[in-house]
Amino acid sequence: MKDIKAKILSNKKVSHAYYNMSLDAPYIARAAKPGQFVQIKCSDSMEPLLRRPFSIHRLKAKGSRLEGIEILYEVVGKGTKSLSKKREGEFLDVMGPLGSGFSLHRPLSLEPRAIIIAGGIGAAPLVYLAEELKKNKIKTIVLIGAKTKGFILCEKDFKKVTSEVYVSTDDGTYGCKGFVSKLFRKILKTTESKFETVVYVCGPAGMLRCIADICRERNFECQESMEEKMACGIGACLGCVVETKSGNKLVCKDGPVFDAKELIW
Ligand SMILES: Cc1cc2nc3c(=O)[nH]c(=O)nc-3n(C[C@H](O)[C@H](O)[C@H](O)COP(=O)(O)OP(=O)(O)OC[C@H]3O[C@@H](n4cnc5c(N)ncnc54)[C@H](O)[C@@H]3O)c2cc1C
Ligand code: FES
Repeated sequence: MKDIKAKILSNKKVSHAYYNMSLDAPYIARAAKPGQFVQIKCSDSMEPLLRRPFSIHRLKAKGSRLEGIEILYEVVGKGTKSLSKKREGEFLDVMGPLGSGFSLHRPLSLEPRAIIIAGGIGAAPLVYLAEELKKNKIKTIVLIGAKTKGFILCEKDFKKVTSEVYVSTDDGTYGCKGFVSKLFRKILKTTESKFETVVYVCGPAGMLRCIADICRERNFECQESMEEKMACGIGACLGCVVETKSGNKLVCKDGPVFDAKELIW
């Protein structure tokens, strides 16, 4: 992990309140694993004082050289609003890569299968994961859920990685109508069960819980990326505790990715 001054290579609005920022950060890109995050000082002023955590959305390469990272973020408050106003060429204080990330090991099976489930801005860490799964030749299915059509994120990015991308919206304006957990059950009914399945999830807490329940019923391994408010991001302030079956854990250091079977809801 390093604390660097990273030059902003681009900062573009993707849709609604969503932005994509590229940062010149070759060290972080070389050290990063899918599911890890960075802490960014979003403003030069005292407000907000604390850095904000953002998942590493994907790596940015120029030819064969890893140039930096991308983050995908939603403007929700002071820090992210300030970030959205930053311009190409400005510098940001960025610390990372942080946290444990997803485990990509192939299950002890001849037929491994990954199911990625993204809810809203939860798509952010999962594109990089999908790209790594493809490199590892693991068959991957992607389910994306959002409240309405305009809030579906990264569909094109996921389609570059796998032909099996399914979408649901709560209001039925695009894809299947209903929550992505309903779509997950539907997909499980229609796909073969010969695969040794690992499910990777990021999204709102209610969704994580529903998906964890379905995975428990099916005895699937399920890795969930959790969100907690963070201050230090490095395990020093004890401000991001989550209760697990093996005691209290820190989302920033022990996570943000946890085995769903370990979590106490
Ligand atoms: C490990 C990790 C990875 C994350 N990755 C991303 C990402 O890739 N893209 C992205 O858009 N967001 C991500 N987040 C959430 C992001 O950190 C918060 O949205 C951001 O800190 C809000 O800062 P703010 O100053 O704009 O909002 P604030 O003014 O601090 O808060 C505005 C609203 O956002 C809520 N909020 C603040 N922090 C969090 C948080 N950590 N989790 C959930 N709700 C929060 C507050 O309760 C409040 O309702 C991640 C969070 C964690 C812990
Ligand atoms: S944010 Fe300080 S311990 Fe996790």
